[in-house]
Amino acid sequence: MINPHVGIPELKSVNSRRSTQRKHILDLDDFSKNEIQLVLDNAVAMEEVINRSVRKVPALRGRTIVTLFHEPSTRTRVSFEQAGKILSADVINISDSASSTEKGESLYNTALSIQSMQADIIVIRHPHSGSPNFLARHLNSSIINAGDGCHAHPSQALLDLYTIQTHFGSIKNRKVVIVGDILYSRVARSNLWGLTKMGAEVVLCAPPTLIPPDFLKGFSKNHPFASVSITHNLEEAIEGADVVMALRLQAERQSKGRLPSLREYSQMYGINEHKLQLANKNVIVMHPGPMNEGIEIDTEIAHGPHSVIQKQVKNGVAVRMSLLYSVMAAPRIEE
Ligand code: CP
Repeated sequence: MINPHVGIPELKSVNSRRSTQRKHILDLDDFSKNEIQLVLDNAVAMEEVINRSVRKVPALRGRTIVTLFHEPSTRTRVSFEQAGKILSADVINISDSASSTEKGESLYNTALSIQSMQADIIVIRHPHSGSPNFLARHLNSSIINAGDGCHAHPSQALLDLYTIQTHFGSIKNRKVVIVGDILYSRVARSNLWGLTKMGAEVVLCAPPTLIPPDFLKGFSKNHPFASVSITHNLEEAIEGADVVMALRLQAERQSKGRLPSLREYSQMYGINEHKLQLANKNVIVMHPGPMNEGIEIDTEIAHGPHSVIQKQVKNGVAVRMSLLYSVMAAPRIEE
């Protein structure tokens, strides 16, 4: 039996009597603040491993991770693979075109077959919201949601939280503006859960047609997002911001008629030098990627001094190592 702590001395285990080891990671709605903090703290220990000359520890030796991606991905798929390999797991990647769903097999039967081949963790990306939740209900393997439809992208939100925390030292009371295609964004939804739980001041900014209709009605005072404000005016939103998070305009999910024109959208909601001057002078600019440069973000901003976009990508490996560790290697705490 491998001691999962070998080579990663600073790791923390779940230590609350009310906490149990999490089997699946589907969204952040059911994460407590302490649980999020544990993932972020362990990502610090994982980052130390990544920065070594030999990036390898035995925490997940003998474990098998299968990434099952039914949508394109660069960052998420590669970083889960790299995270698994650094932790010594065997990682098998299956894309849409290489799986038997191409021949008409159901997602359930594909995933069941993967489980039968002893996959400990299935990391799934799927265009249909709720697909990871469905697999988690019916399979024994651990399921990690790598993005499902417009629903959730928990590992992206956690790496965003980690990026904010490592940059500023804390997330609480930071003004975070999320701007763009909120209607179709799983990144925005998972970030809303994570940022509000960690005490950030969150402002959503988009044209009314790109904000979910139930958000436009406003949140009641008992709603988990009660502290979140919504505006359609980017200059107003960005004033005093610590973090500006631009979202990709999701052409593949857009139904027609939500925008008068891309040019007008870019003028009103694109992040440029002029608008960024209204933010705090130490503002950081984030984007989950892939970016439409020149639409939601100017090239000079995406690659400029305020951008932490490549830092987000780098942090994704440490955070995903922390997540893989949390579902597989962390000691179970019994009630
Ligand atoms: N942020 C994100 O999910 O990027 P990929 O689509 O490249 O994985």
